[in-house]
Amino acid sequence: MSNRPKELDSKVLTIQDLELEARKRLTDVVGGTTHPDCSLRDNELAYSRYKLRPRVLRDVDGVDASTTIFGTKVSFPFGFAPAAAHRLAHPDGELATSRAAAKNNIPMCLSSWSSSSIEEVIAQGGQNPYAMQISFFRDVSITKRIIERAEAAGYKALFVSVDLPVLGHRLNESRNNFAFPDHMRFPVLAESLEMGLDDTGSRVFDPSLRWDKTIPWLKQNTKLEIWLKRVCAPGDVQLAIDYKLNGVIISNHGGRQLDGVPATLDTLRACSPVAKGKIPLAIDGGIRCGADVFKAIALGAKMCFVGRIPVWGLAYNGERGVDLAIKIIKEEFLRTMMFTGCKALSDISEDHLVVLEPNGRLSRL
Ligand SMILES: Cc1cc2nc3c(=O)[nH]c(=O)nc-3n(C[C@H](O)[C@H](O)[C@H](O)COP(=O)(O)O)c2cc1C
Repeated sequence: MSNRPKELDSKVLTIQDLELEARKRLTDVVGGTTHPDCSLRDNELAYSRYKLRPRVLRDVDGVDASTTIFGTKVSFPFGFAPAAAHRLAHPDGELATSRAAAKNNIPMCLSSWSSSSIEEVIAQGGQNPYAMQISFFRDVSITKRIIERAEAAGYKALFVSVDLPVLGHRLNESRNNFAFPDHMRFPVLAESLEMGLDDTGSRVFDPSLRWDKTIPWLKQNTKLEIWLKRVCAPGDVQLAIDYKLNGVIISNHGGRQLDGVPATLDTLRACSPVAKGKIPLAIDGGIRCGADVFKAIALGAKMCFVGRIPVWGLAYNGERGVDLAIKIIKEEFLRTMMFTGCKALSDISEDHLVVLEPNGRLSRL
């Protein structure tokens, strides 16, 4: 007799297992970063600096992790960040990712570099909300058409990537001579790719974005919620509030653009006091388990997004691999809530975290 829970998959019990299995199947280049990989490592390590501080005897019967995002109820504060070309990991690509997201009622943001179309991806979904990631092109009519298609298809929000004046120098892609396979299609970006993407993207991307020009343009050209992606400074959170944006995603692009910026969890902690009660903050970067989601919520995030995890899920087992990844994280998150004495997300606070000081003392935040 055993009282062990029945595992969802005999080989993959955690996201670390999933990454290992995925790496056997993926080229090393997928998910690569800019030299010397500090931000990717820091994003992950930041979570281990905070320890959980459980409280007891808090009736957690009927624990509920549900929340809302883009005006829609979702099952827990976890969703998919935009990541290019899911078909590099599995032939079903973003369609499989979307089906798994819908099945688990979590939000998904589609990359402009998607290898499936805006319309097909949302058509796989149910009641879960979709966001569209956009970049600004020198020919702004390309950006405008992507927005129009996303609106017409029923997307609820735009994630505006504001860290793309040029492409990051991804050394591992250069070293491995990476190129997208000839059969790979980018239906969202077909037009801009015809302009020809050079080594820095500088022919294509518009490096002249400004708060007082770009944000008014966006507001004139869309009714969708506007969330800024890759905000790393409290001053920019304040500007997002001043410009009445709908939300901010604390992100460093998973280390793929500018390396050497702080871990996103540390940035979140610096930005939360500015945002509190004024604008919702989401976070991405380095989230690898349910306890990480808990820590980000405790430090002020409303929602956690992940970029690499769905790619690993796809590489492991297509839609079922992505579904497995969501279920692992959700189960871990619910357990963390119960073990720490939290029945609803509103119960989670900084009070549930401590930091181990170098002198061996545990400090409250
Ligand atoms: C393979 C890959 C492709 C990505 N493509 C995009 C993209 O097209 N647009 C974008 O805004 N961010 C992109 N990102 C960044 C993610 O949206 C997200 O910020 C990052 O992956 C979060 O870190 P994590 O992978 O540790 O979860 C990509 C990330 C990866 C790993």
